[in-house]
Amino acid sequence: MNIDLTHVNPFLNKDVVNELESRIPATYDTIYQKTGAGNDFLGWVSLPSEIDENLLADIEKTAAELRKKSEIFVVIGIGGSYLGARAVIEALQNHFAPLTGEKPLIVYAGHNMSEDYLHDLMAVLDKKDYSLAVISKSGTTTEPAIAFRILKQHIINKYGEQEAASRIVAITDKARGALKQLANVKGYKTYIVPDDVGGRFSVLTPVGLLPIAMAGIDIRALVKGAVEMERQCKANPTASNPVSQYAVVRQALYAQGLTNEIIVNYEPRLVYFSEWWKQLYGESHGKQHKGVFPASVTFSTDLHSMGQYIQDGLRNLFETVISVENANHELRIPMENDDLDQLNYIAGKRISEVNHKAELGTVLAHEDGGVPVIRITIPEVSALVLGQLIYFFEMACALSGYMLEVNPFDQPGVEAYKKNMFALLGKKGFEEKTAELNRRLEL
Ligand code: PA5
Repeated sequence: MNIDLTHVNPFLNKDVVNELESRIPATYDTIYQKTGAGNDFLGWVSLPSEIDENLLADIEKTAAELRKKSEIFVVIGIGGSYLGARAVIEALQNHFAPLTGEKPLIVYAGHNMSEDYLHDLMAVLDKKDYSLAVISKSGTTTEPAIAFRILKQHIINKYGEQEAASRIVAITDKARGALKQLANVKGYKTYIVPDDVGGRFSVLTPVGLLPIAMAGIDIRALVKGAVEMERQCKANPTASNPVSQYAVVRQALYAQGLTNEIIVNYEPRLVYFSEWWKQLYGESHGKQHKGVFPASVTFSTDLHSMGQYIQDGLRNLFETVISVENANHELRIPMENDDLDQLNYIAGKRISEVNHKAELGTVLAHEDGGVPVIRITIPEVSALVLGQLIYFFEMACALSGYMLEVNPFDQPGVEAYKKNMFALLGKKGFEEKTAELNRRLEL
């Protein structure tokens, strides 16, 4: 993979860039020496190269057993406890996976509190053989806890206590949290989320690896890609490293007043990769009234919606394009003798070639419109490349978070809605808050 800064350089203030670049070696030091804020959550830094062979083999074994008896695999989790897995699975599976009949189909729950969603899911599960993973590091998050309580009853009703227990995997903290106690009592297969790896950095732990293996994806290739990127960073912790370049450029643009970053893909299989990226950057940096606002679009789809704003709207944004050099399949535009649709001028070309020209045309149009464009080019969408990208963005997130002078590894802001929700639900210990909110809502 490569970073292309051609379409961002004209916008950069060199003094700002030089200042940020001068901070890069010390920022790597802060990460590797674990001397910065949130330093007890730096386990992801050396995670890829330290993954235990026994753990990988165990995950593969569990996945192989469950795959044999599952038409559907339900991943219950929210935020970092599901987005990484979904990003990789959706990037690598068939776009029409639910229609191909390939088994198991991976579906998600516990990432919302929609009654209708769970109702519809259970109506499907009534008729299918399934197994599930409940994933929560804290073991106490409300959304997955509710989904698990409902689906636990469903799976027990369907298979009986004993068989149901063999179809449930719990992925959680080694000791804390209700989920761990529950898993112990019920004898579920359990994987541990390491203490020093936060949710949004946990895709290369069992949190991501088990669901990804359930989808039949080569988890070793994914890890190998991450190891390559880990080594590349370690070998060159300077401003010339592409990871550092990305971190520096986005921080420089932010310092110049461009407060919104849009991650752009031209492949719909990367939509959930963008979701994972948004969570990683939004939750890591949006603190103390600071941070780049992360957004995403899929082109050319969104060139017919958000494209207008990006080209012509408020000039407070920049783009980061994930450019895929090679499609995984070949499809050419056919020639038609009558040429009634006037497409013969591109007959014989691959769709990906047209897509690529749309990308280059858009990059230049946006540059002309005052939008700096960072391009990250990858040879193809594969497990190996996704592993590289995951580590690339994790390390860049840590670097730019420290340069922004926030703790990239906590998420204190997530608690505010929870507190209000608990108070409104009348949870014990929230009485004062309940009274205050009821007054404000005139209940
Ligand atoms: O990145 C994070 O830490 C969060 O997004 C968490 O992953 C998310 O809140 C879910 O937490 P938990 O795994 O404890 O249920």
